[in-house]
Amino acid sequence: MPKSDHIVLVGPMGAGKSTIGRLLAANLHLPFQDTDRVIEERTGADIPWIFDVEGEEGFRQRETSALADMLSEGGQVLATGGGIVLKQENRSLLQKGGVVFYLTASVAQLVERTCKDKKRPLLQVDDPRQKIIELIEQRDPLYREVADHVVNTDRRSPKSVVQDIVNLLGQ
Ligand code: S3P
Repeated sequence: MPKSDHIVLVGPMGAGKSTIGRLLAANLHLPFQDTDRVIEERTGADIPWIFDVEGEEGFRQRETSALADMLSEGGQVLATGGGIVLKQENRSLLQKGGVVFYLTASVAQLVERTCKDKKRPLLQVDDPRQKIIELIEQRDPLYREVADHVVNTDRRSPKSVVQDIVNLLGQ
């Protein structure tokens, strides 16, 4: 099956997927959507509530169905939640869905960008830095499995990352 024409951003919490995705979409004159926001709109509740009431598994089910629906629409820029790559089903949807960019950043940057955030249930632990390290160890190979390109966002402005992505798309 040929790849469809979405541009999909994957990567850990704090990599800048939503900020960069929005800017990239504006640059390319494409619609932008974010799996987390679509899940929240459909559920009528925020992500911490979904994790509390339905557990991570409930959230993951909602995530797969949101992703499948978003990919079935016309070409757009899609930002995804950091755990989207955990399920094989999602990985195969992503690989078929379009050009996938894995946004990376150092642990120090990820900690800095997420430390004040109370809306990420997986990071509400005693040692969020250690949690970020564990998640990256587990997920980095999965991000790489689905990615067509890896783009480092460390200490870089969203604008400069967007320029890299635009250049890679033009190659
Ligand atoms: C998660 C990342 C979050 C959100 C949920 C779970 C994860 O998205 O989907 O809190 O498992 O890494 P962001 O990567 O946009 O923060």
